[in-house]
Amino acid sequence: MSYPYQIKSLEEYKKAYQQSIEDPEKFWGDIASNFTWRRRWDKVLNWDFKEPKIEWFAGGKLNITENCLDRHLPSLAEKPAIIWEPNNPEERTRVVTYERLHKRVCQFAQVLKNNGVKKGDRVCIYMGMVPELAYAVLACARIGAIHSVIFGGFSAQSIADRLEDAKAEFIVTCDGAYRGGKDIPLKSVIDDALIGNKTVKRVIVYTRTRTPVSMIKGRDVWWEDEMRAVTESGEQAEGYGQIEVMDAEDPLFILYTSGSTGKPKGVVHTSGGYMVWTNYTFVNAFQYQPGQVHFCTADIGWITGHSYIIYGPLTAGATSIMFEGVPTWPDAGRFWDIIDKYKVDILYTAPTAIRSLMGFGLDPLKGKSLASLKVLGTVGEPINEEAWHWYDEHIGKKKCPVVDTWWQTETGGLMITNLAGVTPAVPSWATLPMPGVQALLVDEKGQEITEKDADGYYKGNLCIKAPWPGILRTTYGDHERFKTNYFSTYENMYFTGDGALRDDQGFFRITGRVDDVLNVSGHRIGTAEVENAINMHASVVESAVVGYPHDIKGQGIYAYVTVTGFRGDEQSTRQDIIQTVSRIIGPIAKPDKIQFVSGLPKTRSGKIMRRVLRKIAEGETSNLGDTSTLLDPSVVEEIKNGKL
Ligand code: WT7
Repeated sequence: MSYPYQIKSLEEYKKAYQQSIEDPEKFWGDIASNFTWRRRWDKVLNWDFKEPKIEWFAGGKLNITENCLDRHLPSLAEKPAIIWEPNNPEERTRVVTYERLHKRVCQFAQVLKNNGVKKGDRVCIYMGMVPELAYAVLACARIGAIHSVIFGGFSAQSIADRLEDAKAEFIVTCDGAYRGGKDIPLKSVIDDALIGNKTVKRVIVYTRTRTPVSMIKGRDVWWEDEMRAVTESGEQAEGYGQIEVMDAEDPLFILYTSGSTGKPKGVVHTSGGYMVWTNYTFVNAFQYQPGQVHFCTADIGWITGHSYIIYGPLTAGATSIMFEGVPTWPDAGRFWDIIDKYKVDILYTAPTAIRSLMGFGLDPLKGKSLASLKVLGTVGEPINEEAWHWYDEHIGKKKCPVVDTWWQTETGGLMITNLAGVTPAVPSWATLPMPGVQALLVDEKGQEITEKDADGYYKGNLCIKAPWPGILRTTYGDHERFKTNYFSTYENMYFTGDGALRDDQGFFRITGRVDDVLNVSGHRIGTAEVENAINMHASVVESAVVGYPHDIKGQGIYAYVTVTGFRGDEQSTRQDIIQTVSRIIGPIAKPDKIQFVSGLPKTRSGKIMRRVLRKIAEGETSNLGDTSTLLDPSVVEEIKNGKL
């Protein structure tokens, strides 16, 4: 494959950026022409942020899996599409060539059809990181079903809420999953999630751990049996796994993410624009060259896995590594072993992983070559300079450009990032927007920031002025929410929820969320969600949750809680609350610190003064700002003195 749209120099970047702004339709139309379409689009872009309504490649017909698989078969059939590295390094690796992947996806597409899945149906996927997860995702896309992958760290309750919101009728899961030293009983979590569920008709269970599972007649079937039925029947002959020709704007998937309200929202991405955007950003930011091996360490339960393990690399014909385990098991050298074993060219990981590995010192790097590495990437949260330099020096050996890629579930793909070796890298700066991304900083009123602050930077809230092909199209089942969430804070702009700095060269540095959303180990968690979960505990009266700086996680979760009393001592009540949160949301949302207080600082109108709580949690108790509007300022003194 060749990528005529791959940017090779700073000058080319500037030119491409300019063109993308001056004539977006020509720019993206030319790029989209490099893909396989069943029908060419009528119009590259229709948009109105007021309504809001966004359409890319309207009238165009395609199937994204034809672009991921079929179109590569003539030239790349024998090339590995996915290399699977099991949790246990002693277990056999699986190499899935493009030809094999195509075959498996077609077979599983037929399995889905045999089980009654039709175009537009929602299929929830709750699996560990096994190749079958990728087959399931792509098989849905092939028949036009909408996949909704749920990360393995979410609880039964969270899954139940998502199943209900998506009105999902089908689930694909595993009996269990291996992650480090743990076996996670996925099917059993699904069983709990299905208590009281009225919509789910079929659960397909892939055998991974052979942990005992309950199988309900008429509802639950084994993956292996279904696959065998397809291969043994004549269905192969008559166009099995046939492609559903999709509209460019048909939904491809729903992915739930947290916002500032208590309820996660289903971000909807569509086929045409998402395909172009993930491919374009993959090829440009990482400067992917044909034949290279790409290792994105994310879980497919997050957008990073969707876009940079599956869709971006596969549309580009790359080899994508899929790793089942965790970076620190059996030891902290695991990533480095994988890199040497498969001669990885591109490593894409998160600051939290880098910081955690830094904590093990340089010993785990002994005897590891890492010579194959060409490009390093980071994503998920702001990267601190120390971690950036460690990554650059000890992993990249100062010869690999580090790309700091800022983006979001909602943006589908990378938005602000340097392009490896092509545009300048600056530690802790995401630097320049991708072509097509009209980023700007605004003040509270939505006015563009034109004055520098005392440090010489423009500082404000990060917005985007016009659509790019990968932008979300709606929030599932609630278009009004889409509007209020992203297009109502500021008129005619997409608001990211992030704050940022910009320098004279136009480089951006993302400083973090300015809304009530936390970023814990690169996982996005709404404070309201955690509060709701804490408040479910029988002894809790109310709670307020804020983030605080955490050495490894980036942010930790700090909860201030009032209770009617303790069962046992404070510590056991703390454990009960943590257990409650784990049940309601999942282990990823467990508070790191719980401080019991006799009251929360509220204004006379009853609003919790989070600003004060945030400062106390950060340990900045000397300058709490104006607290004169508080109903009872004495609670602040108490909270300060009782700080954990
Ligand atoms: C939030 C989006 C995009 C995939 C992973 C997270 C933060 C993301 C960076 C970065 C600073 C970053 C932002 C953003 N974020 N990448 N390179 N530098 N902050 O996706 O769960 O949708 O979270 O992650 O705060 O809004 P997500």
